[in-house]
Amino acid sequence: MKVLIFDTTDAAVQAVADRLLGEIRMNPGVVLGLATGGTVEPVYERMVNSFESGEISFAGVRTFNLDEYVGLSGDHPMSYHTYMNRHLFSRTDFAAYNVNIPRGDVPDPTAEAGWYEAEISRHGGVDCQLLGIGENGHIGFNEPTSSLSSVTRIKTLAPETVSANSRFFDRVEDVPTTSITAGIATILRSRKVALLATGEKKSHAVAKMIEGPLSAICPASALQLHPLTEIYLDVAAASELTLHDYYQAVHPNGRTDVP
Ligand code: GLP
Repeated sequence: MKVLIFDTTDAAVQAVADRLLGEIRMNPGVVLGLATGGTVEPVYERMVNSFESGEISFAGVRTFNLDEYVGLSGDHPMSYHTYMNRHLFSRTDFAAYNVNIPRGDVPDPTAEAGWYEAEISRHGGVDCQLLGIGENGHIGFNEPTSSLSSVTRIKTLAPETVSANSRFFDRVEDVPTTSITAGIATILRSRKVALLATGEKKSHAVAKMIEGPLSAICPASALQLHPLTEIYLDVAAASELTLHDYYQAVHPNGRTDVP
């Protein structure tokens, strides 16, 4: 695990955007795993800026989003389909046929989950997976006690996740309580992982992910098993790390170009 701590939130966000853009420049047909949530919005904003300034094209990039709420149609204002269109897809040249997000409004969500897992494999797997982290340590919608061997399936949201995500809905009662989410094993099969966490609210989950025991109670701790994971943090999100000074010595201010 590379732990990269940046002086400012902006610098952490920019570094993640640069990472993804770098993957695309290296391989214009790259398969990206994408995430939703407030944390990654500014990453997408920077990707849009790069597109608008003519620096990059996303026309050949294939994407697989992590998750979707069960019961919400693609055009529901709070669906992750709408989120992705609003923040990235409708503002760039991603091709609709290259974009994949689980469908939350299908009659058989379990069958959809199985199909989605197979689709990821059929396209050769994810090259680089972008992740955020929940305050309870979830990745995707893999809530605490998710099997570390799980694949794409239906998960019931933890009460704290419903409460955290209610800020995007009119009323807490409107937040769906189940989701289709890529599993922990699905995420671990990605060739590279880049996780972004910012703000003090994430500091506890970040410490458990990086320094806690490998345990289903903190699903993100499964990333300790992944050989090419980079964790991008601002100072606040890194504030509970015991080995903070060590990470800073190895990668001063998030730099990866120092010996
Ligand atoms: C959501 C998503 C996750 C995201 C997390 C954090 O529920 N399913 O993929 O990483 O919660 O969201 P935020 O960045 O808004 O704190």
